[in-house]
Amino acid sequence: MAASPWWQGAVLYQLYVRSWRDSNGDGYGDIPGIIAGLDHLSWLGIDGIWLSPTMPSPDEDWGYDVSDYTGVHPDLGTLDDLDALIAAAASRGIRVLLDLVPNHTSSAHPWFVDAASARDSVHRDYYVWADPAPGGGPPNNWLDATGHSAWQRDDRTGQYYLHNFLVGQPDLNWWLPAVHDEFRQILEFWFDRGVAGFRIDVAHGLYKDAELRDNPTLPPGSDQLEGRFGLRPVYNSNRPETHGVYRDWRKIADSYSEPRLLLGETWVGDAEQLASFYGDNDELQLAFNFPFAFGKFQLPDVAEVIAATLAALPPGACPVWMGSNHDIGRFPSRWCAGNEQHIRVALLVLATLPGAVVLYYGDEIGMTDLDVPLALQRDLMTIGSANPRGSRDRARTPLRWDDSESAGFTDGGVTPWLPLPPASAPNVAAQRADPGSVLRLCQQLIALRHTEIGSAPAASWELLPGPAGLLTYRSGGLVIAANLGDAPVATPDAAGEVLLSTAGTAGRPAALGPWQGIAARPAS
Ligand code: GLC
Repeated sequence: MAASPWWQGAVLYQLYVRSWRDSNGDGYGDIPGIIAGLDHLSWLGIDGIWLSPTMPSPDEDWGYDVSDYTGVHPDLGTLDDLDALIAAAASRGIRVLLDLVPNHTSSAHPWFVDAASARDSVHRDYYVWADPAPGGGPPNNWLDATGHSAWQRDDRTGQYYLHNFLVGQPDLNWWLPAVHDEFRQILEFWFDRGVAGFRIDVAHGLYKDAELRDNPTLPPGSDQLEGRFGLRPVYNSNRPETHGVYRDWRKIADSYSEPRLLLGETWVGDAEQLASFYGDNDELQLAFNFPFAFGKFQLPDVAEVIAATLAALPPGACPVWMGSNHDIGRFPSRWCAGNEQHIRVALLVLATLPGAVVLYYGDEIGMTDLDVPLALQRDLMTIGSANPRGSRDRARTPLRWDDSESAGFTDGGVTPWLPLPPASAPNVAAQRADPGSVLRLCQQLIALRHTEIGSAPAASWELLPGPAGLLTYRSGGLVIAANLGDAPVATPDAAGEVLLSTAGTAGRPAALGPWQGIAARPAS
């Protein structure tokens, strides 16, 4: 039997580079800072890190507007620094994934600069251009991520170009074979350098309807994964042709002697659509589960979304779970309203689901969202927009390493690019020293995951009938019981010897207190 791939059972860590650790006192985290902080990740037991965008960019969208796909952003370091990080991480058994943005480039990318220069330019068709509508105005009703028209008129050539995100992020035209060739080369460039894989930005995007048909309206009361600003984005995203791109990339990823990983940002509303990105085990190996992240961390919701995901995924597929990221905010706020007992239980559940888990930097210390005053906000996509999800800066503030004035993030006296959490907020050093901290619990949970769940197939996960109020399941060699309510509930019979309790107590309790969870051996 072939060995399972490294990501099966793994814990990945999304590292938002600009906010992790600043090595040169410019107020931005950087790649040498990651190298300096790697011991934290290896102590924690992390198997792989996904770096937020590292490529050169004008930063209208903090690196998600790429101007050079084979470089490193000068604020973050050099190609040599990235090579050094890959080697330093490898020596600790940690893989490095980069963020790849294939849906769009920056308008400063040389392809777009050329494309916009003339209708007959070499790169014109790399992008999606269209004539004005018959009566004038944008070609159709598509809206961008800020709720404005997704079309920008370019006076030089009299046509509109498509941008599903900001005006400075023109969408690539995936109907053009040359675009496929460019990205094959980009994949190989990084894979050859030892990059373990990519998180693929807007993986549900890429192809757009060839006829540019209008999007239908969004029925009132629809949930936020079905659309926003009154429209369902059925023609400017999630097109069936996109799957062919991943079948092609998977062949490239699998051609390496350690297969490379494709982890998609698959922003879709239900488990069936999510499952489609795994193909017949010939597309993405991992696809982010937004219905889980946006679900409520309460019963029966959380049990239902886990079960629905596992039922929908194709046999052998590896699910992936996360509660936080740089767009949607942090689960300690969204699910747990900052309550430490709730955060502990959420970490227990995340760490004991089958497949792969992605922690966002700060999850390990229970870091919450931080309200960033408007004057200090840096995210152009959400400043002043009607975006119902609020400012994304709240989840991008620097990591607090200690309780010093600079948080151990940057040099004393330096103003960081986004405000630091207050000195009273959780920090790595204090939690490392405290055996009862969230960080120490997180480290124990990851160790338990590695020994007891490992590469257990998703199919072996089973929801157990348990007393009302408890989320009870079997996962790998464990039985998990978590009290998601405010009243004590008898410990279920299925749980035998208790290996870990989120309350930090030893032994098998007769009842689980409010928001207490345990990982136990199955009762014999
Ligand atoms: C993805 C990224 C987000 C970015 C957008 C456009 O959703 O996660 O941060 O703004 O794509 O690239």
